[in-house]
Formats: sequence, structure tokens, C-alpha cells
Amino acid sequence: MKFIDTHCHLNDEKFSVDLIETFERAKNIGVNRIINFGDTLKSSAAVVELAEKFVGMFAGVGVHPEEIADFDKNSAEKIIELAKNKKVVAIGEIGLDYYWEKDSEKRLQQQKIFIEQLEIARQLNLPVCIHEREAHGDALKILKSEGKNLRGVMHCYSGSLEMARELWKMGWLTGFDGPLTFKNSAKLPEIVKAAPREMILIETDSPYLAPVPNRGKRNEPSFVVDVAKKIAEIRNETLEEVAQYTTENAERLYNIKEE
Ligand code: NI
Repeated sequence: MKFIDTHCHLNDEKFSVDLIETFERAKNIGVNRIINFGDTLKSSAAVVELAEKFVGMFAGVGVHPEEIADFDKNSAEKIIELAKNKKVVAIGEIGLDYYWEKDSEKRLQQQKIFIEQLEIARQLNLPVCIHEREAHGDALKILKSEGKNLRGVMHCYSGSLEMARELWKMGWLTGFDGPLTFKNSAKLPEIVKAAPREMILIETDSPYLAPVPNRGKRNEPSFVVDVAKKIAEIRNETLEEVAQYTTENAERLYNIKEE
């Protein structure tokens, strides 16, 4: 069985001493491809550099909504420059985070920079990986007005079933990770159950949000199999099926092949 961890951050300092072993561990259980996402210009450069070093490692570049303080008129140019690297498969993670940002002016600024980065994705014909927390209404509104001719995923999905249905109708995928396996996973199992196969991606968001049975520990790409197992259990499918369609979905969205 083959899996793709479609969202992680192996450039994080938590992997500085054992990055190679961590990726080996993942490959040994079938997670032979991963996508690392940047959240600042600096970390975006770092994930591109990492991707160039490892077979099976890809990169997404962009500025996260909590990191927009330094976003200036040169930032878009820098993202475009980084995205020219052939290991870059997405613009992300970009989006809105109202959980951490309560100031309405700054929320407007997040929206502006989100839209600006959506425009980069459109220009470069790259898919988008969206971070969205407690900003469901505005995120949906922006995707409706500014998301034409774009494709992508709502990573670490945390919205409602109704919103998920709207997103699926518009062609946007939903990414599931550790929280799906938590006892307090709320409505996530219901959403996973209702999702069309072709709209499901699996991810870890390593080093954060480790799934059960490793909840609370450092997360790593090999644990994406625990997310896939949970999806199989909820949907009454085999792990093989989940591995196959989630891999196909990731290959199709991000246009990645076995290297
Ligand atoms: Ni992330």
C-alpha cells in the first residue's frame, strides 16, 4: 500500500536531529511521498530546499494568515520566484485564521493577502492549500468570488457538513488529519462519511496534531496511516481502498508522480 502525506512541516526544528530517519520510517510503511508547506517566506524557501534534496518530497510555498505582518509589495514576487522550482506543487498554506486574530482591521488584511496569493496560484496554474480557522463564512465567500479557475484543498478541515457540501460542489477537496481520530472529533466523522471519495485527502500537519494512538506526541508522516485507518473504519472500507483513492486524489490535485 502507498500513501501520500499531503500536508506536513518537516522543516520544523523538531525534526532537525532526525529528519532523514523520520522520512525513512514513513517510506518503510508506504508513505513514500510527502508535501511540506511553508508558512513564511523564510520557511517557504526552506521547504523548497528540502524538496530538492529528497526523492518523494515536494513543497508548497506561501504566507500563512498568522504570519502576514511582514508581507509587503515584494512578497508576491518572492513567492512566484520560489514557485518556479519544479518540486513546488502548490501555493500554501494561505488563508484566514480568526481564532488567533480578533482585530477586524487585521482580519481584513488577512483577506487581502489571501486573495493576492490566490491570484498567484491562478497565474502559475498551481493548486492551493488553504488554512482556515473560525473564518468559515469569509473563506467560503472569498472562494466563491475569487476562486474561479482555481483548485485546491481545505486543509485540516474544521467547518460544517453544509459548508463541506458547498466546497465539494465547487470542486474543492477536504483534508483530514489527527483530530479525526480524537474522542472529541465532533462532526468530523459525519463529514468523512458524507464525502465523495474523490474529495478526500489525508494529511498529518506534522509536527502538530498527532493522531491516536500517538496523540500529544510529535507527529510525523508515518502516522498518516492512522488517519487512513480511521477513514476506513468510519466509511466501512478497507485500508487498501482508502490508500488507493486518497493517493490518486493527491496525485491528481498536486500533479505529482512517483519519482
Ligand atoms: Ni500546516
